[in-house]
Amino acid sequence: MAVRVYRLSDEDGNGLKCDLSGCPSDSIRGPRKEEDELSSPVRRGPIGRLKGNRGIRFTRMDTSKGRNERALALIAEAVLAPSSHNTQPWLFRISESAIDLYADRSRALPINDPDDRELTISCGCALMNLRVAAAVRGEVLQIELLPSRNVPDWLARASFCDQPRVFGSEAGLADSLARRRTYRKRFAAKAVDSTTRDRMVSAAKAEGALLRPLLSESVRGQAASLVAAGDAIQWGDPDWRRELAAWMRPRHRGDGLTVPALAAPVTRWVGRHLAMGRSVGAKNRKRMEAAPLPAVLGTDGDGPRDWLLAGQALQHALLVATWHGLQASYFNQPIEVTDLRPRLAQLVEGGGFPQILLGFGRPIETVPASPRRPVGEVVESVESGQC
Ligand SMILES: Cc1cc2nc3c(=O)[nH]c(=O)nc-3n(C[C@H](O)[C@H](O)[C@H](O)COP(=O)(O)O)c2cc1C
Repeated sequence: MAVRVYRLSDEDGNGLKCDLSGCPSDSIRGPRKEEDELSSPVRRGPIGRLKGNRGIRFTRMDTSKGRNERALALIAEAVLAPSSHNTQPWLFRISESAIDLYADRSRALPINDPDDRELTISCGCALMNLRVAAAVRGEVLQIELLPSRNVPDWLARASFCDQPRVFGSEAGLADSLARRRTYRKRFAAKAVDSTTRDRMVSAAKAEGALLRPLLSESVRGQAASLVAAGDAIQWGDPDWRRELAAWMRPRHRGDGLTVPALAAPVTRWVGRHLAMGRSVGAKNRKRMEAAPLPAVLGTDGDGPRDWLLAGQALQHALLVATWHGLQASYFNQPIEVTDLRPRLAQLVEGGGFPQILLGFGRPIETVPASPRRPVGEVVESVESGQC
């Protein structure tokens, strides 16, 4: 099986493939102080054994062990990635020489995302974050996607290369990791300049995906109509509503779409029982039409490898956007609804398989970061054996 290997730097520390032209060199930080390295508490241990991993023993994460610390610091930043419904569908396994990324399909959304396409994209986003977190610490990671045909849950291996510290070009994006947000309000009515737009397109291209801005008013209007049509179909489906409601959670749960603790049961009831497709659709259509820069992220193929590329491309573009003071809204309804996806693809001729429909813009207010589970819930260490 062909594997795609990313080398973040060659032996001389050159040859970095990401185009970050425009990010000032002083934004590339040196390695952090040790006390910064564990930004999230590690509270819990084992998370069960995944299918297909016979022969490898996984043990409770012992944070006192020095060899785990650098990996944990990277994972603490990887989990800041966006994920569909904030499901955080990832698991990390740390060994002496590598961090392995697995899909946690117990957190799948079978109605909204029956093929785990968005789940895999979300994991691709986390992988991009891992690369950025490594780059800013001068770590060189070698990435292999889908390392084993027999273990489909094993999405990637990030191997540490024992080389002198090299600060990869992704390092310039490190400050964006914690500043990125999904923004669901109206954006400031300010156009995104073409230089910024081009940088986001280049970022996606560097990862093997296409980010196609929707510049024509007519195309944007048609895309907005597809969003409204998607809302009507999704909200008309009681199973879809039930699944959404199940992921509406108070912040202290550490995952899902945050609703205030007191309102959570009411919101869940409304989500489960009322079809709100028309009102939600009308609102989303307006938001999409008003987004300063709507864009479709597409890939040449439509399998797990393409989804992992799409995830890295999405996150790379989002981090570049954040660096430029932008945030993004998602309008994925016409991609999630099977019948609408070809219609969106037609609108973006030559854009490949649409994977994510976004609107970028400048936020008018700061929104709080969405919650994350403690790192210890998503990490295991490998005690013995080679993966
Ligand atoms: C693959 C993928 C699909 C998403 N789809 C939507 C969506 O359709 N609507 C939406 O509002 N947010 C969507 N999101 C954003 C998530 O809801 C968001 O990442 C999550 O709630 C965590 O919040 P954060 O991005 O601010 O950290 C998506 C994110 C990913 C990675």
